[in-house]
Amino acid sequence: MSVAIALPQPGLGTFRLQDDVVIASVKSALELGYRHIDTAAMYDNEAAVGRAIRESQIPREEIFVTTKIWFDRLRGDDAIAALRESLAKLELDYVDLALIHWPSPNGEVPMAEYLGALDKAREMGLTRAIGVSNFTIAQIDEALSLPAGKHIVTNQIEVHPLLANTKLVQHCQSKGLQVTGYMPLAVGKVMDEPVLQDIAANHKATAAQVALAWVASKNIIVIPSSTKPAHQKANLEALELSLSADDIARIDQLDRGERVANPPFSPAWDQ
Ligand SMILES: NC(=O)c1ccc[n+]([C@@H]2O[C@H](COP(=O)([O-])OP(=O)(O)OC[C@H]3O[C@@H](n4cnc5c(N)ncnc54)[C@H](OP(=O)(O)O)[C@@H]3O)[C@@H](O)[C@H]2O)c1
Repeated sequence: MSVAIALPQPGLGTFRLQDDVVIASVKSALELGYRHIDTAAMYDNEAAVGRAIRESQIPREEIFVTTKIWFDRLRGDDAIAALRESLAKLELDYVDLALIHWPSPNGEVPMAEYLGALDKAREMGLTRAIGVSNFTIAQIDEALSLPAGKHIVTNQIEVHPLLANTKLVQHCQSKGLQVTGYMPLAVGKVMDEPVLQDIAANHKATAAQVALAWVASKNIIVIPSSTKPAHQKANLEALELSLSADDIARIDQLDRGERVANPPFSPAWDQ
């Protein structure tokens, strides 16, 4: 691993959030102390995210900005053009992390082609670091065998108490990759789990906070989204919660492989 770029814990997710809603969400998070914002070309909100970052008046270099390249931009050097378009919308000279949002469906575009282009974008200074998202164990191994592989810092994947994704998480971590856990609240589903509610009551916390603390206890960066400053603050404070080994073991039992993000172009997931 030649790049020692650490992703700040936690990040703020922005999927589904648009216009004034995402502007307000990013600004309040930055005010509360978040320094890591996760967007994507596919979210169609990069211009608003960029505006919120500028209006926060926090120096650019203090904020870690991630964007992602959609799978229709993987041929030849198109990933570089796609990243330039994202930067133009964000009105930024560089992002901190550029991810391949999904592996090329059915391996249609060879990984060497698009990871090579992504790494070229890094060499050109368009991004400080590169990474992947929704890659399986086999795809991580292939990526790491390529020249670009030594610059990959993270695999961003779905992780929450209902989908622990343990094999993939441990595989990535054993290869020195940081795991970023998306949908850490299973987009709200975790709040209905009696075990989480029970553990939360013992800690004078909420089920959402317990879910985030559990993901973070696995050395995973969490990127919950929230439109509400009170929730954003609670999500920051969740990382101070110290769950006991017994709490963690009880939450480990909730894993039922329940995916929220499972579109038709998904790779063959690890079980
Ligand atoms: N790489 C990928 O393919 C991929 C896929 C999906 C997501 N992501 C990234 O991961 C981020 C997180 O996923 P997500 O936004 O889909 O789902 P999520 O973070 O699991 O859940 C967000 C939902 O939880 C609620 N919430 C947040 N904090 C809460 C709290 N403390 N108490 C109660 N409710 C709370 C939010 O509502 P309020 O607004 O009311 O707080 C929102 O409805 C995305 O925004 C995106 O950046 C990446």
